[in-house]
Amino acid sequence: MALYQFDVLDSTNEYMKENRKKFQDYDIVLAKNQTAGKGRRGNIWISTEGMGLFTFLVRKQEKEENINYMKLPLLVGLAAIRAFQKIKKAEYQFKWTNDIYLQGKKLGGILVERRENDFLIGIGLNINNQIPLEIKHIAISLQELGEQEYSIPDIVLEVVEQFRTLWKEYTSGNWKEILTEINKINYLYGKRVALRAGNLFIEGIVQQINNEGEIEIMSDGKIKSFAMGEVIRERLIFPLEANIESFAKAYILKEASYDVIICLVGEFNENWMEKLETLHLKVEKNISLEEAMKKYQAKSFLDFPNIFPLENYSEERIKKIAKMFV
Ligand code: BTN
Repeated sequence: MALYQFDVLDSTNEYMKENRKKFQDYDIVLAKNQTAGKGRRGNIWISTEGMGLFTFLVRKQEKEENINYMKLPLLVGLAAIRAFQKIKKAEYQFKWTNDIYLQGKKLGGILVERRENDFLIGIGLNINNQIPLEIKHIAISLQELGEQEYSIPDIVLEVVEQFRTLWKEYTSGNWKEILTEINKINYLYGKRVALRAGNLFIEGIVQQINNEGEIEIMSDGKIKSFAMGEVIRERLIFPLEANIESFAKAYILKEASYDVIICLVGEFNENWMEKLETLHLKVEKNISLEEAMKKYQAKSFLDFPNIFPLENYSEERIKKIAKMFV
């Protein structure tokens, strides 16, 4: 396990891919910045200094026959979370299939690529970087926890070390225990999601991650499992009313993983604006509900006032939650 550090690369994944013959198992390429960082599904990974931007190599061994490499992102995610737990205790979660979450926001993402027998495990972690205001409602950086700077090489080495241990556990037949650990930190569990897998689109409530590493979704009373797919958070325009219960409902929906966009229709004083900030929701001030629906291609909460999970909340329970915002 050797660590190669660079100031700037186009992409640590690309660099390692191009030079992969020169690298050995668990070697790491770390860059302070990237000019063409890659995300999953051909997305761009916007890189800035302060992020942990690295790729390490996992080489397929001849003897490993019963290994399912589709499980790699799950194992990498758990390894990163084990590493974070050693560095700064918090409630990190794993969002199937490839993301690390904290406080309901993305802390990092994983991109696994394959060339012949080489798996290139690319990880982007928000560590010392500041999250830009526009995405503060969906992304978080580790430094927000303790307002301290972390050593990126130390974190990176810890992640890869944790992965090495975990991979050993997995290849020696301890998948069951690992899966239990992953399910304990399953961010999507119990949440209502929409999932796109190829041409298929389903909506439902997430159950466990199963033995195959697939996500199970309860939809129309049946459990369906998916080996891959993109979990899309349903988008909801929420016309906020100037009462604390309305706040509580927006909060509950956000916690249930909806992508809530607040549409402010009436007059709101500064005090309310401050409260809104604490929810980290996207806010639209000067457009009508119809315009917001069009702009975000989203449905309106007014058409679904009892949408899951609110259907399970009594007025009383909502009032109780609302007290949090007083
Ligand atoms: C995702 O969430 O879509 C995965 C993002 C992976 C980004 C990392 S940054 C280091 C490595 N190099 C890349 O070009 N991508 C990965």
